[in-house]
Amino acid sequence: MSADTSAPSGLPFASPDAVRPEVRGFKPYTPGLSIDEIRDRYGLAHVIKLASNENPLGTSPVVQQALRQKADLAFRYAQSGNPRLTAAIAAHHGVPAERVVAGNGSDEIIDLIVRVRAVPGVHNVVAFNPCFSIYELQTRLAGVEFRQAPLAADFSFDWDGLLALVDDATAVVFVTTPDNPSGFCPPVADLERLARALPTGCLLVVDEAYMDFCGDEAAHSLLSRIDEFPNLAVLRTFSKSFGLAGLRLGYGILPAQLADYLRRVRLPFSVNILAEEAGMAALADEVFRAETLRVTTEGRDALTAGLTALGCHVYPSKANFLMFRPAASSRGAAHLFEELLRRGIIIRPLKSYGLPDLLRVSVGSPDENAAFLKAAGEIMSHAG
Ligand SMILES: Cc1ncc(COP(=O)(O)O)c(C=O)c1O
Repeated sequence: MSADTSAPSGLPFASPDAVRPEVRGFKPYTPGLSIDEIRDRYGLAHVIKLASNENPLGTSPVVQQALRQKADLAFRYAQSGNPRLTAAIAAHHGVPAERVVAGNGSDEIIDLIVRVRAVPGVHNVVAFNPCFSIYELQTRLAGVEFRQAPLAADFSFDWDGLLALVDDATAVVFVTTPDNPSGFCPPVADLERLARALPTGCLLVVDEAYMDFCGDEAAHSLLSRIDEFPNLAVLRTFSKSFGLAGLRLGYGILPAQLADYLRRVRLPFSVNILAEEAGMAALADEVFRAETLRVTTEGRDALTAGLTALGCHVYPSKANFLMFRPAASSRGAAHLFEELLRRGIIIRPLKSYGLPDLLRVSVGSPDENAAFLKAAGEIMSHAG
């Protein structure tokens, strides 16, 4: 075999030309810090993570039992397209199964929608700014133009500003409700107006990752009326209220023809066999879900009251997290975040969302919420 003479340095992939232009300088998704990272960094025995909006009750005992029972299936591929799971999701929402596509987290559905719909150099994708960063990352990776309309100063949605960016080349509009990172949740009438105002060829993707925490889905979600809107897709996830973030399972409910295209291009086994079993068990476990919603709603109220009493400005949230501005008398968001970390409490700085003065905290268990409030109070009162 002759030696490779095309790479005198011996590092043929070191040059930026070795990858597609979209990949050069690509900034990866910024995840919440992990418990292990902080435990090791500060030598702590116990770490509380309130950074990624995971379920404060952990993994449902019913799901754990299903996973134990099905562990021996790990050597098998899942059935292609996960028909049993998509049928269960469809029954849960009262929609036809042909509309449902399951993915490796709703992240995968976001990626598929962009790649199936948008042609590089031709189409654009529109969202608010700030927004959940995967919309932008996957759009840019696909080589497609990404347009963003600023949110209003109070983090409500400027619909006119959003519509002003939409033209005949807009393939997808992403809207998150309740929104991440603010928790803002517009009335369903606003979404209805938006769906009707968009060109018929433009897909409105409403990302409802946190919708089940809003308390009144009929007042905020179009999902139960999806048949009325031929250009509407709704995304949901098992990562939050179902407590399965680590197994990676989400889904989209899409126009049937589009769902068919997504299924055709999806990598065949991206939803693995244990995620599928866990998803079906989680859907059936109404007790865990009801308890999750109760603990989250009560925790959200307790955190709102506690942070407000500490002088923070808390933005109203219908999700399982709160965005807040630390007390004016404190040393600010970066200081509070770092000091909490040193005490083993991880929350989410919002610098990567372009909001360096704000923080986001996930609703935890009553003990976790109390520990966070106690530590935040101590840190902010030692401002000098
Ligand atoms: C708005 C929003 N959409 C989608 C996701 C992705 O969820 P999944 O874990 O299903 O990929 C998240 C996760 O944090 C999110 O905040």
